Formats: sequence, C-alpha cells, structure tokens
Amino acid sequence: MIPKNLGSGDQDEFTDVGSTMQVPGKAPWFVTAAGREVILCRQGDEIVAFSGNCTHQFAKLSQGEVEGTIVRCPAHGARFDCSTGKSLSSMCRDLPKVEVRIQGRRVLVRAR
Ligand code: FES
Repeated sequence: MIPKNLGSGDQDEFTDVGSTMQVPGKAPWFVTAAGREVILCRQGDEIVAFSGNCTHQFAKLSQGEVEGTIVRCPAHGARFDCSTGKSLSSMCRDLPKVEVRIQGRRVLVRAR
C-alpha cells in the first residue's frame, strides 16, 4: 500500500497508512509514512505507534525478527516491545511515540 498525505490544514502532517483492520492483534505492523519507518501495534483496544528505527544506531526494525509484540533489532540484537515502545535492552532508550489518529476505519500517523 502506498501511504498518501491528506487534505489541508492540520491534516497535512498526518499520513493515511491503511485500515484499522490491518493492524494485527498481538504483533507489530510496519509501515513507511512520509519517508519514516513507523511501527503500529494494538494496546488493548487502542492502536499505538512508535518510531520504527532502533534507538541505538537507527537500524530499521522492520528487518528484525518478530516474536509476538517483541522485535529484535537486526543490527545488534536490542529488543523492543512494540505494544509499549519499551526497550528491553540496556543499551537502548524506549522507542519515540508517534501520534496516531483514527478517522472512520482509517489509521493516520504523524511521522515527521
Ligand atoms: S542499531 Fe539496533 S541494537 Fe544497534
């Protein structure tokens, strides 16, 4: 799917990345929005989003191994919980949060 930028005004900063139905229950969904890697995941009934780049040396986590909501960085093995953004490795900070909006059944993220 090719994300598209929306309308005018405040919406300009949000990118439509797909349907809420595409966000899996207990696994991350990796997208590219406005040229940035983003991870979407469910946290209970909510959809949350985090930067998809490792906080160590910015490797793309979409290329890492996934087990449930945990992703392992392909570069040096740091692990992150994609449902909370928490780092499970002492060498890394938590993943920065990305703002999410739900409009109807569409998922929009503010990736800048
Ligand atoms: S770049 Fe991810 S652990 Fe080093």
